Amino acid sequence: MSTTRLLHLALLSGLLPWSWASSPAETLHPRDDEAFSPPYYPAPAGGWLSDWADAYEKAYRVVSNMTLAEKVNLTTGTGMFMGPCAGQTGSALRFGIPNLCLHDSPLGIRNSDHNTAFPPGVTVGATFDKDLMYQRGVELGEEARGKGVNVLLGPVVGPTFRKPRGGRNWEGFGADPSLQAIGGSLTIKGMQSTGAIACLKHFIGNEQEMHRESSVITQGYSSNIDDRTLHEIYLWPFAEGVRAGTGSVMMAYNDVNRSTCSQNSLLINGILKDELGFQGFVVTDWLAQLGGVSSALAGLDMSMPGDGAIPLLGDSYWGSELSRSVLNGTVPMERLNDMVTRIVATWYQMGQDQDYPLPNFSSNTLDETGPLYPGALISPTGVVNQYVNVQGDHNITAHAIARDAITLLKNNNHTLPLSTSDSLHIFGTDAGPNSNGLNSCTDQGCDNGVLTMGWGSGTSRLPYLVTPQEAIANLSSNAQFYITDTFPSVTPNSSDIALVFINADSGENYITVESNPGDRTTADLYAWHNGDDLVTAAAAKYSRVVVIIHTVGPLILESWIDLPSVQAVLIAHLPGQEAGYSLTDVLFGTYSPSGHLPYTIPYQESDYPSSVGLLDQVFGQIQDPFTETLYIDYRHFLNANITPRYPFGHGLSYTTFTYSAPVLTTITPLDTAYPPARATKGSTPSYPTTLPNPSEVAWPSTLTRIWRYLYPYLDDPSSITSNSTTASYPYPSGYSTTPKPAPRAGGAQGGNPALWDIAFSVQVTITNTGNYSGRAVAQLYVELPSSDVLGVDTPAKQLRQFEKTGTLTPGESQTVELNVTRKDLSIWDVVVQDWKVPVDGDGVTFWVGEGLGDLRVECAVGGTCAVVDSVS
Ligand code: BGC
Repeated sequence: MSTTRLLHLALLSGLLPWSWASSPAETLHPRDDEAFSPPYYPAPAGGWLSDWADAYEKAYRVVSNMTLAEKVNLTTGTGMFMGPCAGQTGSALRFGIPNLCLHDSPLGIRNSDHNTAFPPGVTVGATFDKDLMYQRGVELGEEARGKGVNVLLGPVVGPTFRKPRGGRNWEGFGADPSLQAIGGSLTIKGMQSTGAIACLKHFIGNEQEMHRESSVITQGYSSNIDDRTLHEIYLWPFAEGVRAGTGSVMMAYNDVNRSTCSQNSLLINGILKDELGFQGFVVTDWLAQLGGVSSALAGLDMSMPGDGAIPLLGDSYWGSELSRSVLNGTVPMERLNDMVTRIVATWYQMGQDQDYPLPNFSSNTLDETGPLYPGALISPTGVVNQYVNVQGDHNITAHAIARDAITLLKNNNHTLPLSTSDSLHIFGTDAGPNSNGLNSCTDQGCDNGVLTMGWGSGTSRLPYLVTPQEAIANLSSNAQFYITDTFPSVTPNSSDIALVFINADSGENYITVESNPGDRTTADLYAWHNGDDLVTAAAAKYSRVVVIIHTVGPLILESWIDLPSVQAVLIAHLPGQEAGYSLTDVLFGTYSPSGHLPYTIPYQESDYPSSVGLLDQVFGQIQDPFTETLYIDYRHFLNANITPRYPFGHGLSYTTFTYSAPVLTTITPLDTAYPPARATKGSTPSYPTTLPNPSEVAWPSTLTRIWRYLYPYLDDPSSITSNSTTASYPYPSGYSTTPKPAPRAGGAQGGNPALWDIAFSVQVTITNTGNYSGRAVAQLYVELPSSDVLGVDTPAKQLRQFEKTGTLTPGESQTVELNVTRKDLSIWDVVVQDWKVPVDGDGVTFWVGEGLGDLRVECAVGGTCAVVDSVS
């Protein structure tokens, strides 16, 4: 076989590193055995899409009149602990633009008060309920707005459970790109309907916590991802989030293909801004900026919290240094104008010019008064907390999510639901409160009592917590509690039922909990606090044991799952503040469980691909090659023909459902392999390119300087002369100011809009055939034709759509419609650099069912559509 043919095949399979795959002509690299991220310059300007036209028009009018200092102010944080929020920009008060507050978290307002602690992403994913996904987004947005948070730092769609032990998987919606995409985009739409700006994060490849971050002493790992895998797995939910109109995107800490995300020009300029047509602004993760000019040229728009290599020294890669690099001509004026226009346009796009509140809380203290700039050490003081109650009736949604996520893995002999008069013996600290008090651990960095969320920046304080212990005690007439993880000496009667609570925690790397540095290094994939032993001990004494698990992700259950007395097992995920009654709703049968697994539970950890283990190394940069390519979680289990203990999507109910009358309809014929040609790019704001007057960044004589605060000003700006030449600044290789041709896969927010044409629709009627009311989840999996049609192998089945029924009473039916887009049937063609479908959908099969192990309907394009027996 010729070299060219070999190369072509390797490219098609997506197996060559990105250096070859993304744009072969310009990216051949001498070390093809190493990952390499090709340069992509210049940064595309925002403002060319009609959905953002008004906002850009308004921004243009304002930015045209801004001084250099005002422009730089909006791009750069004022420094760590230099305000109430996790980060804040400088202001442009002449135009009514305040310091913009950027603050966590994706599940509630972090380090605040009178906020709701919603369940996190993984729990939301397990509901498979689009209405709840959206509604939680609305309420998060309302709370952000109520507290004066301009940019709420969420949702999370990366990490995506590539590494089952990864510390922050639980912040996202599950181990599947479409589940992440639907969860993320509905959250964004909900949040932004209130005027709050969403921040979709972490872009991209941040799949483990350890060694994520570069600093002056260490280098974060490099996630080495081939082009096809990037597009079909990791980029997928980001594309959907951009399509949903997210106002901002946060760059991850790590490198991708050896180029750090915060200044990776291919990722920001090429993929996010050109291919995905992103019109908002790109912000660093906290302290993830590693260079000033380099990041500006690579497309970064905002630096958070603004500090340079070492925080709290009062210096920055941007701030006054950005002023300098513009004045000396190194960073083109066009680039700065684009950064600021993107930020201001986003502010207008969400309507934040209309009475958006200023921050009325401080994440630094719960005291009413305190320093305004704690990082300054000596700071003016004032009222920092107004204790605004933003909870509204959001407990209703928080409760509904926690309840409708509860996933019944097993229920022998109809052990569940229980009766409130059953004799119940409850074991495990996970049923009870935190013995040190509510919110006693910073950022929930401990595992004490019922596990409501993981730890780190993705958390909030609990305004209150109803524990399972309290809820059961209130409802049951016959419950005894043993809130201990050591099995006590008990002598049960044969009618006693044991409820055993166990959990598994993880979180963000800056906190280590019980020797787990974010990732589950020490705990492995087992229950914490010897929870598995607790179950086994209970199973030895009781004939009926119900296990309730609060967990961040998959666990190995094998030491007890098949014990005869382990009759029922519930995964209650991470329930947030409503842990107690959401669980008793299901335990006592007021509601049937309707959650489904948003990840696979294997028999053993070695069933995962060997490449998805955690990486640890003392010296040098960790290279993390994504050699399993598309085959993470269930895609791997199907591909490797490994039967899991519980497949992705699994979830039982107290009732039963039948599927009938499936109909497959062609909506938009797929008469071409590639989408129709994209529209040409619209125009973008055009400003004078002349350099500003240096006096615009001279220190104002009236300013009272705050120590360590990051300002845009320079001591002697008039001494700076423009000397922009490639000799005076080592521009990155491939740097250019000539715009690239618009990528063919682009054309609108998220990509070519034709990718979202609905190609097929599957309708099916679901009937409750059991004795309880309940909700079914119809999950649609796509099976693409064999490799001779598309030229590449594809995962055997991929989730692309789902719909959850309303509550169906016994005998009741509902017809659901599952729409499948052109993109849902596409592979990323690494040579053509576009999405490719099998023409007319030939060879495509749709499967619909209650989980990958419980498929009920099979519809072949051009063939029959039929109810099938459950397949595993
Ligand atoms: C996290 C982000 C978070 C930021 C601000 C970082 O450590 O990775 O997710 O938004 O801090 O708190």
